[in-house]
Amino acid sequence: MGNLLRWYWTPFAAAGEMDQKPIKPIRLMGEDLVLYKDKSGTYGLVDRHCPHRRADMSYGWVEECGLRCNYHGWKFDESGACIHQPFEEIAHPDARFKERITIKSYPVKECAGLLWAYMGPLPAPELPVWEPFTWGNGFVQVVLSEIPCNWFQCQENSIDPVHFEWLHDNWAQQLRGQTNGKKPASHLRIAFDEFEHGFTYRRIREGQSENDELWTVGRTCLWPNCLFTGNHFEWRVPIDDDNTLSVGWFFDRIPEEMEPFHQERIPWWYGPIKDEKTGRWLDSHVMNQDFVAWVGQGTIADRTQEHLGESDRGIILMRRRLLEEAERVRDGHEPKSVIRDPKEARFVSLPIIGRDFFLAGYSMRDVANGNAGFRYPKSFVFQAGQPEEIGEAYRDAMGMKPDGTPNLDRLAARA
Ligand code: FES
Ligand SMILES: [Fe+2]
Repeated sequence: MGNLLRWYWTPFAAAGEMDQKPIKPIRLMGEDLVLYKDKSGTYGLVDRHCPHRRADMSYGWVEECGLRCNYHGWKFDESGACIHQPFEEIAHPDARFKERITIKSYPVKECAGLLWAYMGPLPAPELPVWEPFTWGNGFVQVVLSEIPCNWFQCQENSIDPVHFEWLHDNWAQQLRGQTNGKKPASHLRIAFDEFEHGFTYRRIREGQSENDELWTVGRTCLWPNCLFTGNHFEWRVPIDDDNTLSVGWFFDRIPEEMEPFHQERIPWWYGPIKDEKTGRWLDSHVMNQDFVAWVGQGTIADRTQEHLGESDRGIILMRRRLLEEAERVRDGHEPKSVIRDPKEARFVSLPIIGRDFFLAGYSMRDVANGNAGFRYPKSFVFQAGQPEEIGEAYRDAMGMKPDGTPNLDRLAARA
């Protein structure tokens, strides 16, 4: 599946996962594969089945170089070459049988705490280093979830500004029982623009003006399968036609008193999406609310039953672009936003609301005194189920006490 999507590097796991266990079965773009990290630190992504007699490679083991099958000990490296066939080499030392054997393999790279695969035509393009990956002094975390529906309805959500007012504001109020509270601001205007790496969507809600960055800069529907909001990315990665891996990368700028801050390893976790007690989808956090909408559209949303309106102009643009790019690929051309120049890929800038803040940071004490016009979140608002120790590490990095209030003594000592 996905000839178009295969032209892009896609994140599909957290790098930290492989520190715990060096072998992981992976399903990606409808293919069953095995990810491994061998003892020299090289990543491989190979067929789930051994080319000898089809044993499951995820039950093999890693060595200094490569992954060995547990059935008869054939061993493969990250390029797919068979590098050892124990009994064949004893029985026929001169036959060089292994030179004729390969296992299907795909290149893997590590960047920003994520593992990225490239499953398209070779040579592989450059892996874009998106601007926020280069920022320092941030608490970064990776959150993964499996969503049982097609990736594209998830991606349509990346260019749907009006849903925010309803799904995340009005519905969230209903869920909290705050129906008499302040009415969320209505959207008054929306606009969409295409650029090299996707689309931006811009909005003006009641109380905002044309000078607001939500209108002057906007947020990004990052081509081909990502939402980028300025400090977090959400990729919608096809596991297969019916399932999507949501890969979130979140950057929280630490206050300037806590600089310098560096993470040895970017923490990662898998977010649950279902309430095991009720069997219903979790709805407490922003992305969980999105997941409810996506799975509710059906495994693959039936577009013949839709009635698109003015709020869907971005979706129409994106669908048209997707079909055009798929045709370009079919006709033998390279699609949009494939980067070949290594220099260009080393730093790919994006439209970013609040860039100055992410680069320079604010003083926590100013924020605590109400002088900054915002508050640092005490807890993670995007997905349910964050492990306690990651929440604690976040609050510690931010100079907060365990209850999320600023630890003013510690901040003063650091300043
Ligand atoms: S099936 Fe893998 S070595 Fe025989
Ligand atoms: Fe949303």
